[in-house]
Amino acid sequence: MHDPFSASPGLIGRATELGRVDRAVGDVAAGRFRTVSITGSPGIGKTRLLAELGRRAGERGFAVMSGRATEFERCFPFAVYVEALTPWSPPHPDDAEARAALETLVSISRGDREPEASIDRYRLYRGIRRLLEVAPGSIALLLDDLHWADQPSLELTEYLLRKPPRGGLLVAVAYRPAPLPTGVVAALPQADDQAVFLDLRPLEEKDLAELFPGAGAHRRRLLHRASAGNPLYLHALADAGDSVLAGLTGGEYPVGGPRALQGLLLAELDVLPHDLRRVAQALAVAGDQASLDLVAWIAETGEEETADALDRLCAQGAVVPTDAFFTFRHPLLRAAVYREAGMGWRTRAHERAAAYLDAHRGPVTLLAHHVQRSARQGDERAAAILHEAAAGLLDVAPATASRLLRTALRVLPAREDLTARRMTMLMALARAVAAVGELAESREILKAVLPGPEPTSLEAAGFASVLSRLMGDLDAAKHLLARMLNRSADSCPHTANILIELAALDSLRLDSDEAWRHALAALEQAGELGHEALAATAHSLLALNAAQQARIGDAEVHVERATRLADGVADAELRPHAALFAPLALVEAQLNLRDQAARHLAKGLELVGYQGLNPGFPFLRIVEVVLLTREGRLSAAVAAAEEAAELAAFPNSHELTATVWAAALPALLWLDGPQAALAAADRLIGPALPRSAWWSELTRLNLATVDFHAGRVAACLAQLTAGPWSPQTAVGAGIYRQALHAVSAARFNDLHSALLLSDLGIADAKGLGLDHQLGAAHMARAEVLLQYGELEEALPHASAAATYFADAGAPIDEGRARQLLATLHSRNGDPKAMRDELARAKARYAECSAAWLEKQLAKAELRMAASLSRQAEEPAGLSERERQIATLAGSGLTNREIAQRLYLSPKTVEAHLARVFAKLDVRSRVELTRRLAEEGISPERSP
Ligand SMILES: Nc1ncnc2c1ncn2[C@@H]1O[C@H](COP(=O)(O)OP(=O)(O)OP(=O)(O)O)[C@@H](O)[C@H]1O
Ligand SMILES: [Mg+2]
Repeated sequence: MHDPFSASPGLIGRATELGRVDRAVGDVAAGRFRTVSITGSPGIGKTRLLAELGRRAGERGFAVMSGRATEFERCFPFAVYVEALTPWSPPHPDDAEARAALETLVSISRGDREPEASIDRYRLYRGIRRLLEVAPGSIALLLDDLHWADQPSLELTEYLLRKPPRGGLLVAVAYRPAPLPTGVVAALPQADDQAVFLDLRPLEEKDLAELFPGAGAHRRRLLHRASAGNPLYLHALADAGDSVLAGLTGGEYPVGGPRALQGLLLAELDVLPHDLRRVAQALAVAGDQASLDLVAWIAETGEEETADALDRLCAQGAVVPTDAFFTFRHPLLRAAVYREAGMGWRTRAHERAAAYLDAHRGPVTLLAHHVQRSARQGDERAAAILHEAAAGLLDVAPATASRLLRTALRVLPAREDLTARRMTMLMALARAVAAVGELAESREILKAVLPGPEPTSLEAAGFASVLSRLMGDLDAAKHLLARMLNRSADSCPHTANILIELAALDSLRLDSDEAWRHALAALEQAGELGHEALAATAHSLLALNAAQQARIGDAEVHVERATRLADGVADAELRPHAALFAPLALVEAQLNLRDQAARHLAKGLELVGYQGLNPGFPFLRIVEVVLLTREGRLSAAVAAAEEAAELAAFPNSHELTATVWAAALPALLWLDGPQAALAAADRLIGPALPRSAWWSELTRLNLATVDFHAGRVAACLAQLTAGPWSPQTAVGAGIYRQALHAVSAARFNDLHSALLLSDLGIADAKGLGLDHQLGAAHMARAEVLLQYGELEEALPHASAAATYFADAGAPIDEGRARQLLATLHSRNGDPKAMRDELARAKARYAECSAAWLEKQLAKAELRMAASLSRQAEEPAGLSERERQIATLAGSGLTNREIAQRLYLSPKTVEAHLARVFAKLDVRSRVELTRRLAEEGISPERSP
């Protein structure tokens, strides 16, 4: 048969498109990221253009990777990427993350029955990004037929588009407009210079001259009209006689639409005798992953006849050989053959394929695919296969797993003896559904498991609680767990776990008494069971709780016990309880056991494999952000938050992402300033605060801090005074909130509150005796005193703050205290001390690369210099404060009375007055009164 396309291999009528594609390829060759999106109706030439793009990129030395989705195999997870990436071995095999990702893809494509499910999907996504990043040179990733792509492939594509790897990468996607892969389309960059959008139009009549050089103008017109310029139709009509063509008139779409096309395409099978047409149909059923024996089995023909039929199809061009086996020349042809086979035969064909693969222990995903298309109601074996396939995909491709599980649940016989199995399947479904972000739906599914038999029901209760926690619905979680606990009286790891979960919930709710009670009960059960990991968890929660109640001694005792137990347990046993290291590390950091805190945090993160799947993961990450910020490792803190939000296994938990970002706000503030931090807060936290009390406090405190530094003192105060706050504790926001409140009040000239609050703050902090909190309290006191001109009194507080912060290993805070000291010295006219402190502050900020703070310090330095020179000009002038005290003294008040009225110590008043006497050159109060009257200084308004 004459094939116009092979005779004229050139691509026609796409000059404009190719020009734009070439430009994108050129940009990528220069190391940039570009996308090309190609869309248009079936047969219009998307695949062809994509191939041409690949050819051109290949000529420029790109590594070209291409994968495509197929119409009937949407339950093969990552099929598009498996095809694109597996033939390609990474040149950096020592990059562990990239290698693990590639291995996971390979094991998925093989459908390994025992996948090493040590990787979750976000880890996988990151690994793939990494893979594309470490590859040398430019890359073209071509993804075809995305309208058919499996959910995991789509998600991964979205991920790569939104967070493209660094370096020269071209991502080209092709898809039909229906069904539109909306997520991917939305993730494409919109900027013209970054993205090329090609909506392919029909070929024009003049283009046909190149395609059919032998044909006259009349025939070309007929061809163009009949095909409506669709290249696939042109191909199919190339051999039709003029009279046939004349009978067809295309409108915007080719005449007859898909049905007529189907007829045209099926004519390609005419080379086969009727009895061998089944081979073509069997190939359509088997798909690209087929093998000769499988196709023969499905077709119910001998292998020899099957091979012969395939050869003939190949010679005719309907089928082409691939690396693995054979595939149809065009997906539309495969679809036509598949449909022609008829529903009944097809279903039996899938059934035969499944039976064959089951007997030969074929890849379980492939097996599950055929089972899904043929399983009958009540087929226990089918349900078991689907369940098994889903179990292997739960972590890595939850969307696919939930599809398989739903079918499995549908076909599982409704027999009493299968209840336990049904519960296990529902439990798995709930996990899969939650993992794709449908938290509420997952909780609904669990409702069917809760009344069922133990232990699945207890597991369901634990998981339901995790979900509720992720939704911020702590009361619901508590309620459910308490009910389950009443039902099951015996001690077992599950009930001990429930008690632990309850204690964790209570801690989040800041309900200390309850938390204490539950953690103690858990400890007792863990003791009875001899379960050391659980006991360690209980101690860690007791430590947290003691710290929350400001019982430092108790906290220390439980930290000690938790450490001893946890250090003695093997990793494998500890892994499910890795969350215990989050509260432990947090309390340790507050107790200034810094090395121990770092070690435990690292241990916890290592145990969960830095993975989002473990419910302890987000909590560990939040603690990590807090500790890194305190250590001044600001960029690392922001990166940890980013990763936590990205890797969170439960993408729809606002509760969680909001808290993670709230924790990162101070780091963002010191790095990029209040405007950037405010914008981030708007975008990532939004108006809805986390619902659990503890996290809500953390969020409000950090939002208030940003407001304060943005000069939005009223907003800051509003944040601090609204809503309930727990009392001052070792791990809560209390001391810090009070400190910020005092300083904001001072800015508002609310002298009374400012002095009172900062004074109370110091008393509270002393009661706790923790360095960092003492630092915060003294710092606030110093700032308030400075605001009122109390330089003498402010100095020792600022210097105490610097020391406490230094002891607590908090360089940013120490730097800020040093900056305050420098200001005080400048106001006191002590340039040398000022310069010393400035240098120290600068060094601290520089160590932490705190760009915004460095910039602020530079500005402050100018102000300090100005203040010094002003003082030099008017040596005898009274300061604001001195004037105030002088008038009070002049009006007859004693030092003690003045001190009381201004919330100062009598000693300070005395010092001020001494300076006033010196400056005004007077010796007594009587003289002072006279001098003041001479100078026309009005009597003091009371504050
Ligand atoms: N511009 C062109 N010049 C020459 N031949 C073309 C052109 N565009 C497409 N073809 C040929 O037309 C046929 C159909 O094109 P192609 O497979 O690229 O369509 P498609 O848009 O990918 O269809 P589908 O939506 O079904 O995937 C192929 O044989 C292809 O080689
Ligand atoms: Mg195509």
